[in-house]
Amino acid sequence: MRIQSSAATYSVAAHDDVLQQWDDVRGEAGPLELDLAAVDFIDPYGMSALTLFLNHLPPEALPVRLVLQDWPSPSGEPQSKLYAGSVAYLTRMNFWDAVGPLLDATPEQIPARPGRVTDRNVLLEITLLRTHDAISIMLRKTGEILQNLGYTVIGRGHILEVLSELCSNVLLHAQTDFGCVAAMQTYRSREGTRYIVMGIGDAGIGVRRSLAVNGTLASRLHSDAQALGVAVQPGASRFASGGHGGGLPRVLEIARRYNGRIAFRSGTGSMIYHGKENHRRTFDGPPLVGTQLRISLPEATLRPERQGDLTTPVG
Ligand SMILES: Nc1ncnc2c1ncn2[C@@H]1O[C@H](COP(=O)(O)OP(=O)(O)OP(=O)(O)O)[C@@H](O)[C@H]1O
Ligand SMILES: [Mg+2]
Repeated sequence: MRIQSSAATYSVAAHDDVLQQWDDVRGEAGPLELDLAAVDFIDPYGMSALTLFLNHLPPEALPVRLVLQDWPSPSGEPQSKLYAGSVAYLTRMNFWDAVGPLLDATPEQIPARPGRVTDRNVLLEITLLRTHDAISIMLRKTGEILQNLGYTVIGRGHILEVLSELCSNVLLHAQTDFGCVAAMQTYRSREGTRYIVMGIGDAGIGVRRSLAVNGTLASRLHSDAQALGVAVQPGASRFASGGHGGGLPRVLEIARRYNGRIAFRSGTGSMIYHGKENHRRTFDGPPLVGTQLRISLPEATLRPERQGDLTTPVG
């Protein structure tokens, strides 16, 4: 099995391409080689997507021979050489803890995180959340980081609300022991605008299967893409009892307020939401196990008191 990505930025489109290739090669003899040598930037969606993908491969695909720019290097080489490009971002985001044991690599080849350096672009490293208590602890810690970085009270509240809602949805609806994977980072786009980007996902039952429990919605769930359109409507929930179905509409409302963007994937369903135009579009994509979201919000109105400039990846 071999998958090769030609993408320079690993986010929704690049991961969809990997999923499409996986669908094509999954019947072949393993283990899997995943060649991401062309990738020079991986965003929080890409990191959580890779974490979920690698952790849910069938045994015959393991151990995965992952190839990144300058990694793996022959063991014995100084570790500091590894902190460049995508490997550096992955290391700062604690990626190796989430996937290390699944890879065809020696312990010496797995980059260790530099202890002293705090990276102010990392708002939430790759985090596995399996309980509501774990979500509360994560929210408190992330709230403190946002406060220290000068985000406004309202901005902080909105960011935490999105994280809280999407992570809780996983525990409430996805039915997966692996839990929720969440990550958040800031970075500057090619045009120079700074963004906050969140990736939240699971490898659970997916939105369509969850919503199908509610018989009143059954006639509107002909495809995964359609199910995503239903899920973001106010009041649409697997609970038919009323009083639910406010979470995802609220996430869209927050994206709209900040001219942000949302990518929403579940099964073969894809949705893109553009807050600025308040426009959403659904379409079919390659099969993704579970549910994943990417939320990007321009930082300017969330954090007017920017402190100094930060060294950031361009992506
Ligand atoms: N991660 C997920 N996995 C599977 N299904 C999901 C997931 N997230 C949302 N859903 C489905 O989408 C529906 C709508 O989600 P939404 O957050 O809007 O409402 P809710 O969680 O049911 O209620 P509320 O958020 O108002 O308490 C859910 O009821 C569930 O069926
Ligand atoms: Mg909800």
